[in-house]
Amino acid sequence: MLHRTAITDYLIVNPIEPQAEYLERASRLIREGGLVAFPTETVYGLGANALDPEAVQQIYLAKGRPLDNPLIVHIADWDSLESLTTEISEVARLLGERFWPGPLTLVLPRHPQVPLEVTAGLETVAVRWPKHPVAEALIRAAGVPIAAPSANRSGRPSPTEASHVMEDLVGRIELILDGGPVGLGVESTVLDLTGTVPTILRPGGITQEQLQAVLPEVRLGSASAAETASASAPESTAAPSPGMKYGHYAPEKPLILVEGELEVIRRQILETMAQLRANGAKVGILASLESYPIYKEASPPPDYLQVMGSRHDLADLALYLFKTLRECDLVDVDIFLVEGFPEHGLGLAIMDRLRRACRGQIIKPPV
Ligand code: TXA
Ligand code: MG
Repeated sequence: MLHRTAITDYLIVNPIEPQAEYLERASRLIREGGLVAFPTETVYGLGANALDPEAVQQIYLAKGRPLDNPLIVHIADWDSLESLTTEISEVARLLGERFWPGPLTLVLPRHPQVPLEVTAGLETVAVRWPKHPVAEALIRAAGVPIAAPSANRSGRPSPTEASHVMEDLVGRIELILDGGPVGLGVESTVLDLTGTVPTILRPGGITQEQLQAVLPEVRLGSASAAETASASAPESTAAPSPGMKYGHYAPEKPLILVEGELEVIRRQILETMAQLRANGAKVGILASLESYPIYKEASPPPDYLQVMGSRHDLADLALYLFKTLRECDLVDVDIFLVEGFPEHGLGLAIMDRLRRACRGQIIKPPV
């Protein structure tokens, strides 16, 4: 089946009090089986009626998404959760009450009513209640749960502004609701509650530390653990969260991630830049605010130097991460070098995305 071509409507929606007429139009499209991109607090989502298998198939086609990568179902009230899962455990309720609405996705046993198209054939379903007035109002107006992956073409950095959705999906979806830039910039944390130990399948907006404060036994799954996360993992590897095995977020041009102590990172980036240049390459650097002057003063300076944010403000780094990766494709540079960041708090999600974005090209110099 081919993806449907569509004329993509674009509405600028009030992000605090979304206009009733726009919600009416968007929710009608959802009920009729259409695809609507909408803002959430994490990234923009590409929504369809989660209970309509054909609408859900269109999501995969529009994104070019592998069919074995399941979708998150978005809700905006507790009753809907009961129609999606056969069992709401104590732990699920506790976490939902603490972190919903918000950037936490819970993997739960699938209710038979949830189409297997949503879960990519799995007997589990991922559910999240997003914290954004437009997302919540849209779900309520639609009257059905909304299946929504990030609204990017598969493999591209996730969209943090409506213009990114436009770039990737214009002509492939029915409507984009532009509610301005998102507030968080990385996706939700995916937490599997179907095993014996609650396991983080994808680090995200709710940090491991926040989860452990409520549930000390939460652990980091191997696919999302720092040392093993790599976009170079062979596609046949059985990954607990199917989406984690694919290369993701990658700019078209090569990106090398340099990890380690800050001083070591800086020295290595300058050295690698010199080597690449000796081979005639134009080199870009994605740097922290703190390192900017160091690269700026290199002679000659890099061909492109972009500040991603302060090392002391991981929330700020998260917010601009995907936008920075998207911009890499717009500049006249052959190869990019990016600084690694500390892996506490949101740093875990940031490093997970960077490791995938560099397709396994990581330099970790000995200290
Ligand atoms: O913040 C977010 O989560 C955004 C916004 C739009 O809500 N959505 C998002 O969706 O990032 P997506 O499709 O880009 O990523 C969903 C992740 C994938 O890694 C997928 O494999 C995993 O969730 N996932 C979905 N259902 C699952 C399941 N039943 N078991 C394990 N992992 C699942
Ligand atoms: Mg995604």
